[in-house]
Amino acid sequence: MSSVFPSGFFDRSDEVDDAEFYRFDRFVTHIDDQAIAAVGKLYAELELGGRVIDLCSSWISHFESAPEHLVALGMNENELAANEAASEFVVRDLNRDPTLPFGDSSFNGATCCVSVDYLNRPFEVFAEVARVVKPGGLFVCTFSNRCFPTKAISGWLATNDEQHCAIVATYFRETPGFDEPVVQHRNHGASGDPLYAVWASVL
Ligand SMILES: C[S@@+](CC[C@H](N)C(=O)[O-])C[C@H]1O[C@@H](n2cnc3c(N)ncnc32)[C@H](O)[C@@H]1O
Repeated sequence: MSSVFPSGFFDRSDEVDDAEFYRFDRFVTHIDDQAIAAVGKLYAELELGGRVIDLCSSWISHFESAPEHLVALGMNENELAANEAASEFVVRDLNRDPTLPFGDSSFNGATCCVSVDYLNRPFEVFAEVARVVKPGGLFVCTFSNRCFPTKAISGWLATNDEQHCAIVATYFRETPGFDEPVVQHRNHGASGDPLYAVWASVL
């Protein structure tokens, strides 16, 4: 369904294997503390718990209190292994293989924080999320206004915050299996990093 976006939308200026870019450990935070707190507050408000999968994860997943069983999936093994909220981790390049190595309806929810802009096959990833998350479970995508520009899709780099929300809402709307997405700016008035969230429940 990527035809809803123009040709070249999912291209990136650095098309070298993502494994190369993420080979080096980055024990950093990608958004400031108040934006991180806004992510945790949203997860708590939405009552994300039970078995949760955090896509494009690293050493932090931002939950106020960790879900019962959190699977952290990302690119850098050392960062994932250091994620104290995670019960297990999976190293997987979703741009090479957008499948999720889990059974149908095996999670209560899914998250993807400040990373949806790196996915160049988002419809396949979103379809997999709709498969592995139980009906009624949520997929919550959060993002700010920063990124690794060489690894973000060109369509993201060419658009503004409001349009980023519309892009992610389109991913949900064009992927069978999701209800209508909710789009919110979660930290109006914050002087630091803005925090936007788009989420939808699995049908
Ligand atoms: C900006 S960091 C965000 C990390 C974490 N979600 C957070 O909130 O701090 C981007 C993350 O996306 C992951 N990532 C990037 N490309 C990926 C890919 N092709 N497949 C899976 N994960 C990817 C990286 O491992 C990295 O941890």
